[in-house]
Amino acid sequence: MPSYAFVDGQYVPRHLAALPLEDRATNFGDGIYEVWVVAQSKLVDEEKHFARLERSLGELKIPMPMEQKAIAQHVRRLIRRNNIKFGTVYLQISRGASKRDHVPAANITPSITIFTNNKPALAEARRAPKKLKIITGPDLRWARRDIKSTSLLPNVMLRMEAHQQGCHEAWMVDDQGMVTEGTSSSSWIVTSEKTVVTRALSNDILPGVTRDTVCELIAQAGYKFEERGFSVEEAKHAAEAFVTSATNFVGPVVEIDGTTIGNGQIGEVTNKLRDLYLRAAGL
Ligand code: PDD
Repeated sequence: MPSYAFVDGQYVPRHLAALPLEDRATNFGDGIYEVWVVAQSKLVDEEKHFARLERSLGELKIPMPMEQKAIAQHVRRLIRRNNIKFGTVYLQISRGASKRDHVPAANITPSITIFTNNKPALAEARRAPKKLKIITGPDLRWARRDIKSTSLLPNVMLRMEAHQQGCHEAWMVDDQGMVTEGTSSSSWIVTSEKTVVTRALSNDILPGVTRDTVCELIAQAGYKFEERGFSVEEAKHAAEAFVTSATNFVGPVVEIDGTTIGNGQIGEVTNKLRDLYLRAAGL
């Protein structure tokens, strides 16, 4: 049975799905996206991702191509059709296609594409947390990182560098030497007093959906919590470090730029938050 994708109102076999040559997401990175994890055939943090999607579109003045309810219905239909029990959904909305010009045609309509990835191994997430090694590098992105735009070139370049060095993720660092976030995840440390620390929300970082849910779990678990910046040096000397994202959940970081974090094992607080998150997600 082929996997299907959703492109502008049509369900098409995934390998035949395509966007027009002059779609603005391709030509200009003029679009936004969301990634959900699917657990037990249900979207994890469904509403929060939709809220961020609407916000990103609003900031870029791209109209919703259809009501949220209708989009959600197509997403669910695709999950059923592709028989996804555990996996991911990628949804992209671009400003649309028109003759390549920085100013789009007046009658342009947004395009929407949705595809799924089957990842049965996610069912094992509780048993097999991957210990992440990361590098750090300069944050070369634009000043509106709060928008989940498809323009990801600085993220991609730094992530390729991490991969080349045998690492899983890279943390981006601002001009003041403070960590902003990962190339596709939010960044966290835990101090020796067991205070959980992550950078405060602003235009400097993406408001991570997993970050938001983990903030709720920190409060539930009764850990101390500080929303503030931290330097690479502070992170290297932290008791624990971790990342959060839809696809990493709570991912333990055991090495930063070759420096072992704590005793190189998954920390107690990280482990607890990971467990709470996975339970809440249905994993
Ligand atoms: N990335 N920061 C950046 C730059 C991201 O790209 C992401 C998500 C996050 C975490 O956000 P969330 O918790 O909502 O997934 C933080 C997705 C997974 C991606 O690009 O594949």
